[in-house]
Amino acid sequence: MKLVIANWKMNHLRRDAEAFCATLLASYKPVEGVVAGIAPPYPLLPVLARLCAGSPVRLYAQNAHAEARGAYTGEVSMAQIQDAGCTAVLLGHSERRQYCAETEATLLPKIKAACAQGLLPMLCIGETLAQRDANETLDVLRRQLAILPEAAPESLAIAYEPVWAIGTGRVATVAQIAEVHAFIRKELTTLLGAAGAEVPILYGGSVTPDNFAEIMRVPHVAGGLVGGASLDASKFLKLLEIAGA
Ligand code: 13P
Repeated sequence: MKLVIANWKMNHLRRDAEAFCATLLASYKPVEGVVAGIAPPYPLLPVLARLCAGSPVRLYAQNAHAEARGAYTGEVSMAQIQDAGCTAVLLGHSERRQYCAETEATLLPKIKAACAQGLLPMLCIGETLAQRDANETLDVLRRQLAILPEAAPESLAIAYEPVWAIGTGRVATVAQIAEVHAFIRKELTTLLGAAGAEVPILYGGSVTPDNFAEIMRVPHVAGGLVGGASLDASKFLKLLEIAGA
């Protein structure tokens, strides 16, 4: 299973989503084993749910709260994103770790809540430049993955996104991606047993149609979590084409 997931972050209005879907759906030829997903801002979920109805394009949320309901002003529950059409949720994106105090402690109940709701949690992990320069990359990733046995996810995807490669145009080298993805695979099998061998591991960080084919050839890379390039439907189409080649 390969996945190409568009993380729109805090971009696009309804008219942009409409134009994007018009371009995407006019040319998209689904390929067996390649999943296309879009994680838009919450207000665009109903728009995309309507526009993508009847297509295999899956909707992701960019985050959701661990509690099922209650007095959490400004938050959105797993049930609500599912009700809006999502099948999956990004959790622990580095921007949420950086700006919204997301930590392993807040992510553990979110993974449990996503699974309880029947949603696929896509846990995002990655080191900062300072951590890489200090040779701490694998320790950081080990710590970020260590919540998995307790979370005991029924389904799971991982996105490795080195923070220094996000939105910078500075993509990790093939050697760096190969080292980290092999490490993540080993950790997943240690932490989750045989199920860990099946978890898709995506790469994210300045993915474009120009570098994606090379990245997809790296062992244990099952797709891309894409920011900037995913805002443009023709680039997203090209990424899907590369994943299906
Ligand atoms: P860019 O593709 O813009 O570097 O963003 C990556 C990302 O953060 C996807 O979640």
